[in-house]
Amino acid sequence: MSTLITNIGELVTNALPEAAGGAAGGAAPAFAAQPDAALILDGGRVAWTGPASAAPAADELVDAAGRAVLPGFVDSHAHLVFAGERGAEFAARMAGQPYAAGGIRSTVAATRAAADEQLRLNLARLSAELLAQGTTTFECKSGYGLTVADEARSVALAAEFTPEVTYLGAHVVAPEFDGDVAGYVDLVCGPMLDACAPYARWVDVFCERGAFGADEARAVLAAGQAAGLLPRVHANQLGPGPGIQVAVAAGAASADHCTFADDADVAALAGSDTVATLLPGVEFSTRQPYPDARRLLAAGVTVAIATDCNPGSCFTSSMPLCIALAVREMRMTTQEAVWAATAGGARALRRTDVGHLSPGARADVIMLAAPSHAYLAYRPGVPQVAAVWRQGVRVI
Ligand code: NIG
Ligand code: FE
Repeated sequence: MSTLITNIGELVTNALPEAAGGAAGGAAPAFAAQPDAALILDGGRVAWTGPASAAPAADELVDAAGRAVLPGFVDSHAHLVFAGERGAEFAARMAGQPYAAGGIRSTVAATRAAADEQLRLNLARLSAELLAQGTTTFECKSGYGLTVADEARSVALAAEFTPEVTYLGAHVVAPEFDGDVAGYVDLVCGPMLDACAPYARWVDVFCERGAFGADEARAVLAAGQAAGLLPRVHANQLGPGPGIQVAVAAGAASADHCTFADDADVAALAGSDTVATLLPGVEFSTRQPYPDARRLLAAGVTVAIATDCNPGSCFTSSMPLCIALAVREMRMTTQEAVWAATAGGARALRRTDVGHLSPGARADVIMLAAPSHAYLAYRPGVPQVAAVWRQGVRVI
């Protein structure tokens, strides 16, 4: 059945440049919006876009009444397989305690103790939250199990909810290894990888002081790649370090966080296909300085925005909040922020079928209760996602 959405006040397409061969050409899409537009969804794909006055007929008609229509958000960084919560840790942080990677271990204990069904219910609740806030594609990491069995069930559960599953056995050294990093890396690169690779598309490592160093990160990524996984890296979140360079050298799809990037890091990103995925909800929730988005953009780096939804450093599932933070706190324009949350996320996941609304794209579409994309930052904290279509089917 085809659906015509007409009377769209602003249609954000992020259309791919036609001269470069469209979606298959791999060229950078740009923020692009049409006023007084219409859109036809058919067979789970975008079939047509253009002026409302020229729209062909379809089986079903939706009158957008001047509201804005955008591609569904693509959240390329989330940790949703966990049990327990860390509200007290957040409260202590707001009272002056610093954020430290070690807090991850309390979630590891709760996750190991949880039944599969409890983890599945939490995943279902969080993925419903994401959808209600306009996210139609999301990535989901393991990393709170840290045993072969607990990491394997984490990726298997994540795969029930999304194809973008990331094996993050190298989140922190498992507590029972008592600081034996080399011993734990052998497990991550050996039996744990063997158990997880069948369920995952990506391999990730937390390259940071207190987690894994450059050599260990390289070993984890290389082992994952040898098992057919594609690399992505938690890099330069808590301080300067080698994470961004390791990510670029490995050909990672994305270096995530990039909060403490030096000139060489920015140059390395600019000369590569590695996306800088910024997670401003983390800086908001840990009271750290925000990454310098303007410097990355000025250097020509491709920037994505994601939530990093997790129980420790940032427990938001809201891409609209992250867009508002990117605009207000990182000085991205409203266009740059919306592009980064849609097409940028798609590039960070090496996906050409989502994050834009060119004909042929997946019909993952959101309609705002507002006339333009700018309202996502202009009205922070106000629920404005009025409708969501996933593969052409209205789900919200
Ligand atoms: O992306 N950096 C590592 N992992 C998460 C934090 C996880 C946690 O605190 O539980 C992050 O911020
Ligand atoms: Fe993370």
